[in-house]
Amino acid sequence: MKPDRRLRVVILGATGTVGQRFVTLLSHHPWFEITRVAASERSAGKTYRDACRWRVPTPMPKGVAPLIVTDLSAADDIDLAFSALTADVAGDVEVRWAQAGVPVFSNARNHRMEPDVPLMIPEVNPDHLRLIPGQCASRQFPASGFLVTNANCSATFLAMALAPLHRTFGVELVSVVTMQAVSGAGYPGLSALDISGNVIPFISGEEEKLESETQKILGLQRNGAIHPAELRVSAQVNRVPVIDGHLESVSVKLTNPTNLDDVRDALQSFSGEPQTEDLPSAPRMPIVVLDEPDRPQPKLDVDRENGMATFVGGLRRCSVLDYKMTVLGHNTLRGAAGGSVLNAELAMARGLIGGAG
Ligand SMILES: NC(=O)c1ccc[n+]([C@@H]2O[C@H](COP(=O)([O-])OP(=O)(O)OC[C@H]3O[C@@H](n4cnc5c(N)ncnc54)[C@H](OP(=O)(O)O)[C@@H]3O)[C@@H](O)[C@H]2O)c1
Repeated sequence: MKPDRRLRVVILGATGTVGQRFVTLLSHHPWFEITRVAASERSAGKTYRDACRWRVPTPMPKGVAPLIVTDLSAADDIDLAFSALTADVAGDVEVRWAQAGVPVFSNARNHRMEPDVPLMIPEVNPDHLRLIPGQCASRQFPASGFLVTNANCSATFLAMALAPLHRTFGVELVSVVTMQAVSGAGYPGLSALDISGNVIPFISGEEEKLESETQKILGLQRNGAIHPAELRVSAQVNRVPVIDGHLESVSVKLTNPTNLDDVRDALQSFSGEPQTEDLPSAPRMPIVVLDEPDRPQPKLDVDRENGMATFVGGLRRCSVLDYKMTVLGHNTLRGAAGGSVLNAELAMARGLIGGAG
């Protein structure tokens, strides 16, 4: 699929950690074109170059650097909005953009658990996009405006790794312990004095998000409503001194007994609509299984597959539940901006935006 023209995009929160990833991913996107960058009053009126402390390890894209950062006010000369706003402002701002007829793809937590808002991982639950007509009708958005969210970054990788197991064998119980990178806390984030040489065993609200968002993501869509998956998740979270990449130690109890080879095959062969539709940001393989006993590692693996895959290693039997594994993903790419861009590509392929399908 190739649209007639590139769609005009605004990035809300363009100056932050996730916003900068959006800028990088969209600056040469075949379907989307950055026409506006928006942020707080602190940044509005400055050039993007001056407003932003650029922290991505590739240069700031030349076309974006001279753009003047605007405030967050909605406008209808934009085809698509990506939101990397902090939760204190995202909720109302995103609704105002949807009311202006603009589809909004958000990273913020505000609307994720609302029953009429898709919480998307395109390989896992593409049918959740079927919530959109009901959302537009009940919220009286113009037909072109709607809200789609992507999950908490740790929940994204957990749900991705569980999806093939849940689909094939059923998953009943999950225990997950996370080791989450500092970039997950935004910029400037934690004080170096707090996190250097340290582990902080608390991230506000994170355990609850892992538990509830996983159930919604893996839930079934029937007649325009999501029925959450019945599996139970127990999460413990830690902030660790790693720049990018959330690592998760996961144990699962399956409904239907199986063997280790079949578990491995289910993970390795997992694929979805982004791969069959050959969407521009889709990883070749959404789950990469690693057999080396000491992998995946953030330092060695997180940037592979353009930061868009979920890496699974250490697959073995668990003496308490059935199987255990180590899961890794790039929190600001697949876990944030890259996940949103893939959601928008899927919506475009399905004809929900841009008038093409
Ligand atoms: N970092 C991750 O790994 C990750 C992963 C998944 C989801 N998320 C979610 O993504 C969102 C962005 O996270 P982040 O890590 O990129 O945060 P961040 O680095 O703190 O960036 C926040 C952005 O929001 C803007 N902003 C802050 N307060 C504002 C206000 N009062 N009015 C208007 N704009 C305001 C900032 O603009 P100024 O620069 O002008 O202040 C900046 O562009 C959050 O909702 C977060 O929970 C983050």
